[in-house]
Amino acid sequence: MKNTETASNIHWHSAAVTKKERQQLHNHKSCTIWFTGLSGSGKSTLANAVDQRLYQLGAKTYVLDGDNVRHGLNKDLGFKPEDREENIRRIGEVSKLFVDSGSIVLTAFVSPYRQDRDLAREMVEKDEFIEVFVKCPVEECENRDPKGLYKKARAGEIPEFTGISAPYEEPNQPELTISTDQASIEQSVETIIDYLKQKQIIA
Ligand code: ADX
Repeated sequence: MKNTETASNIHWHSAAVTKKERQQLHNHKSCTIWFTGLSGSGKSTLANAVDQRLYQLGAKTYVLDGDNVRHGLNKDLGFKPEDREENIRRIGEVSKLFVDSGSIVLTAFVSPYRQDRDLAREMVEKDEFIEVFVKCPVEECENRDPKGLYKKARAGEIPEFTGISAPYEEPNQPELTISTDQASIEQSVETIIDYLKQKQIIA
C-alpha cells in the first residue's frame, strides 16, 4: 500500500526552540536506544526496565513498542518484508522527532533487517543512535513463548514468523549486546545505564 505520490509546495519551518535548548532544560542529551531481537528475546521487558530507571532519574523518556504501535500508527502493516521495512521506516522517523524534542526514546521492534535498522540509524546524528542487540537463542525464545506465537508458527498458523519461517539478521556492530539468557534484567539495565553515562548522555 505504498503511496508513490509526494507532496509539493511544502516548506520547512524552523523551530523557535532548538534541540540543544531542550536538552539543556532536561539536563541530558537525547538519543534513540534501539532494541532489536527475536520475539520473546526480552526487548520490551528490557526497554521498559531501562525506561523506569531513567524516569526515576528524572529523564524525559518514552517507549515505542512493536505490539503497541501496530495497534495504532502502524495498524495498516503486516509482516511481509516490505511491511516490516515501512514499519521500521516510520518508527525511525518518529524516533527522530522524539530525539529532536530532547527525549530519550527506547524502541522495541524485532526489526529483523540490517538495512532497515541502518536507515533508522542514518536519520539521526552519529552519537544519537544506540543499537542494542537483545540476544537470545531461538530455542530459548521458543521455550519462553510468552504469547504462544512460536507454537502457532510451528503449527503453520502464522506465516513468515521471525526465527522460524522468516529471517533475523543479527547486527554486525551494535553499540551493545545483551544476552538475556545469561544476564539478569537488573544487570542488563545497569549495562545500558553505564553506557549512557560513559557517553555522557546522562550525568
Ligand atoms: S517487525 O519485524 O516489523 O519489527 P514488530 O516488532 O513490529 O516486528 O512486531 C513483532 C511482534 O508482532 C512480535 O513480538 C509478535 O508478538 C508479533 N508477530 C505477529 N506475527 C509475527 C511474525 N510473522 N513475525 C514476527 N512477529 C510477529
